[in-house]
Amino acid sequence: MRIAIAADHGGLELKKALVEHLLAGDHQVQDFGTHSTDSVDYPDFAASVARAVASGSCERGILICGTGIGMSLAANKIPGIRAALCTDCYMARMARQHNDAQILCLGARVLGFGLAIDIVDSFLTHDFSANSRHARRVAKINALD
Ligand code: RB5
Repeated sequence: MRIAIAADHGGLELKKALVEHLLAGDHQVQDFGTHSTDSVDYPDFAASVARAVASGSCERGILICGTGIGMSLAANKIPGIRAALCTDCYMARMARQHNDAQILCLGARVLGFGLAIDIVDSFLTHDFSANSRHARRVAKINALD
C-alpha cells in the first residue's frame, strides 16, 4: 500500500518507528517530515499528507503529533478527507469498517510505541464495510464538505 506519513516535533520518534515498521511490511512510504526536533506547526504537515491522500497519490495516511488532536482537526479541513484519531485497535478497526477513514492520527505523548504499531496494523488491515447503512452515512459526511 502507498502510505503518506508525517509528524510534528512531538511525533518525530514515533514516526521513525512507524516508517521502519511499514517498510518491513512491504509498504511504500512517502515521508512528508518533519525530520528534526525543531518546533514546527502541525497543520503544515497535516495538509501535505491529506492532500496526498485526497489526490490519490497515496492510499492511506498517518499523522502524528503530541496528542493527535491537532493533526486530525487540520487534516479534516481538506475536502474528501476522513481523518480519525485512534487510541486503541478497536477504534482503528471501526474507523476503517464504519467510517472509511483514509487517515489515521496518533498521539505520540499518549501511546506507547508497541500499541501505536498495533493500531497502525489494525487500521491498514481492515476494509470499509460498504453496506448501505455505512455507505449512506459516509456519503452524508462527504456532503458536508
Ligand atoms: C506541540 O507541542 C503539540 O501542540 C502538538 O504536537 C499536538 O499535540 C497538537 O495537537
